Amino acid sequence: MTPSTELQRPIIKTELPGPNARAIVEADAKYVTPSYPRPDYKLVAEKAYGVWVEDPDGNVFLDCNAGVAVCSTGHCHPDIVKAISDQAAQLIHLCGTDYYYKHMPELGRKLDEIVPIDGPTKSHFANSGAEAIETALKLAMYHTKRQKFISFFGSFHGRTLGALSLTSSKKAQRLGFARQALDVVHVPYPNCYQCPFNLGKCDDGSCCMGTVSWIEDRIFNTTTPPEEVAGIVLEVVQGEGGYVPAPTEVVKAIRQICDKHGIMLIVDEVQSGMGRTGKMFALDHHEGVKADIVCMAKGIGSGMPIGVCTAKADIMDWHKGAHASTFGGNPVAIASALKTIELLEGGLVANSAEVGDYLKAGLEKLKEKYECIGDVRGMGLMLGVEFVTDKASRRPDAALRDRIEMACFERGLIILGCGTSTIRWSPPLILTKENADVALEIFDEAIAASM
Ligand SMILES: Cc1ncc(COP(=O)(O)O)c(C=O)c1O
Repeated sequence: MTPSTELQRPIIKTELPGPNARAIVEADAKYVTPSYPRPDYKLVAEKAYGVWVEDPDGNVFLDCNAGVAVCSTGHCHPDIVKAISDQAAQLIHLCGTDYYYKHMPELGRKLDEIVPIDGPTKSHFANSGAEAIETALKLAMYHTKRQKFISFFGSFHGRTLGALSLTSSKKAQRLGFARQALDVVHVPYPNCYQCPFNLGKCDDGSCCMGTVSWIEDRIFNTTTPPEEVAGIVLEVVQGEGGYVPAPTEVVKAIRQICDKHGIMLIVDEVQSGMGRTGKMFALDHHEGVKADIVCMAKGIGSGMPIGVCTAKADIMDWHKGAHASTFGGNPVAIASALKTIELLEGGLVANSAEVGDYLKAGLEKLKEKYECIGDVRGMGLMLGVEFVTDKASRRPDAALRDRIEMACFERGLIILGCGTSTIRWSPPLILTKENADVALEIFDEAIAASM
């Protein structure tokens, strides 16, 4: 299951970034857009294998980010490399929007088996998470003949104009782009640790029902009549917003609202899907709750660009020409996705659950040790650690989080921030308990050095 590697610990042998890495960062500053939201530390990758990333100066990092939750099967898993190269030798492209090949129905059939949607489904293939979301938005508008959407504060669904109308995790994503392209109303996301309703700190999910009454009692009666709402777009575990899982009661209640008013429940599993949470989909943690439309990308292709929007077959009822993409459903990307799902089902989802529990227990011990760790949350290998000035006030400490992120990098551990003051753990799903021990030891040292 795990690609063999003898290396057990990071190796840092130059200043960071080293001379070769620095030259690449300098060229990047000259020729590449400055809009990428890169963290303070500068990781330059030359090659990567398993859970390890090597830079051009020979430094080797333990990767607990996986290219932002993408390299689910680890870097360059030999079975993925073989699937990609075998397919590249056979057929790279033909344009599935105009011609046929076996890959799209094969992946569609597999997704029909595993996605958390009742009844038969159909899939539309694209190239990214944002494109999968665009597909879902257009489909919901087309099918319901309605135009409004409900999204959540803190959500991230992409940066294309439609998806950006939903996105609300950071000001930088919106600044300069004037009005929303789509009619989207944002409501508070249920967050047990930083309650948006100031209802106290219950930690049992009951305050979070404020989200439901915000929708039903407030916006449905004012700005957003339910009969005009095409879809509610939900991250079951909010990703960029801080790795915050929604309580089951809220997820269930949102499903009921959708059923009552003929609204599409669009579940964004771009970051939380494909085994990341220890089940194939984050929605699978909420028994009995199913989506109308599910969006996937990131981890589904092990690094190949692919986005998928899967919907109930009778919802995907649009006319020929309504939506398509030249590269979407590319045979090489699909070959990688099919092999990824095989590896996930063959043990990596289970590994995500098992090593995730182990890593979470280690992080909880650090929470007991440090006053600055306010919350440890999440499932599987989608874990968030929120840094605060002190446990009593729960005031987010973004500066400390950023220092810890840098201190981890300097010690050879790659982790990445999200939300206001959270560090996300989203390692490749091949992570072992031994890898987790090394990561926890470095994290501990980095926190101690950053206070
Ligand atoms: C939940 C979620 N949806 C959508 C997207 C957008 O995906 P992409 O960057 O592939 O367009 C992201 C990216 O981080 C995401 O986390």
